[in-house]
Amino acid sequence: MMSPARKATPPAFSPREFRASLGMFATGVTIVTARTAEGDLVGLTANSFNSVSLEPPLVLWSLARAAGSLPAFSAGSHYAISILAADQKTLAERFARRGGDRWSNVAWREGAGGAPLLDGAAAHFECFNRSRYEEGDHVIFVGEVERCSHRASASPLLFHGGKFYTEHPLQADESAPAPADPRFVRGYLGYLLGQASHAVYRDFESAVAAQGLSHIAWRVLALLHDAHSAAVRALAESTTPPAAADLADPAKVPDGAVPVGQLARDVLAKQPTVTKLVQRMADDGLVALRTDPADQRRTLVAPTAAGLATARLLIADALGQEQTQLAHWSAAEVDTLKRMLQRLASGG
Ligand SMILES: Cc1cc2nc3c(=O)[nH]c(=O)nc-3n(C[C@H](O)[C@H](O)[C@H](O)COP(=O)(O)O)c2cc1C
Repeated sequence: MMSPARKATPPAFSPREFRASLGMFATGVTIVTARTAEGDLVGLTANSFNSVSLEPPLVLWSLARAAGSLPAFSAGSHYAISILAADQKTLAERFARRGGDRWSNVAWREGAGGAPLLDGAAAHFECFNRSRYEEGDHVIFVGEVERCSHRASASPLLFHGGKFYTEHPLQADESAPAPADPRFVRGYLGYLLGQASHAVYRDFESAVAAQGLSHIAWRVLALLHDAHSAAVRALAESTTPPAAADLADPAKVPDGAVPVGQLARDVLAKQPTVTKLVQRMADDGLVALRTDPADQRRTLVAPTAAGLATARLLIADALGQEQTQLAHWSAAEVDTLKRMLQRLASGG
């Protein structure tokens, strides 16, 4: 009879293979924090967190022996584990970097034993530092959970293979239609789009108002900005540059000027309304009006430098807010949503 082996056979794989294989295990991301006896804050990003026991409530995480925070975590009576939300990726990166002040502008409140609980986390575990096990180049910390809490609506930050992710729930059958809501308005596309539009614009509206613009004036400026960018691009890509004499003539320099009628159609407003609006915007120096040389009855509207500067400011603001609003969406979801809306906007 063979006696059971007492020792593992030496690894028949490279450290690289080991790392890559471990990287296929997707995890959440935590920041483990503590407060030293001197009152200093310590914290590091860790994804080695796991549950151990329900009764008593125990969790574990492991810390590299080489970590600068090892003495503080070994000596302290408590630590806190903040499970990060998807919009806390930069915090995860910051608490994994050596050097620099990890705590500057980080909002937190004090938990058990003075350990800091990070604001905005998806969950918190406040742990008594129950036991430690030295294994290989890491120390396994087992914590006894004294308090825990979570934000049910939060999307957790995920990590695997060296990259951060956010969740994308798999449904039993992704192609199956969503269950119908018996209330008409909750399932009616027009209602949903109206509500979604309100949610998207709610915060941005104040940025527009701060520039002294109405919502429709903002739409005019954004369209003129795009027309101007397209004209500049076309000029740069053109194989036959305009003659110097044409460049001296402002009417012939392509500046993305748009006829009032087209603007009215694009901003979904009546032409007389837009005519009055662009006159006011011209008085404010945001746009310049001129007669279309090809058709004397038509007025062309072009953005001025001041108009473009205001548009750029608001566009940056709009994109920033969009990024925050969609922080929990995967790139594929954002892409699908935008394609579907474009399809609807162009008549299905
Ligand atoms: C996603 C992620 C997970 C990590 N998990 C751990 C971990 O579980 N244990 C660990 O010791 N280091 C882990 N690290 C590395 C530490 O965060 C990093 O070495 C940090 O600088 C250690 O800080 P310290 O030296 O101040 O203790 C992780 C880093 C990242 C980006």
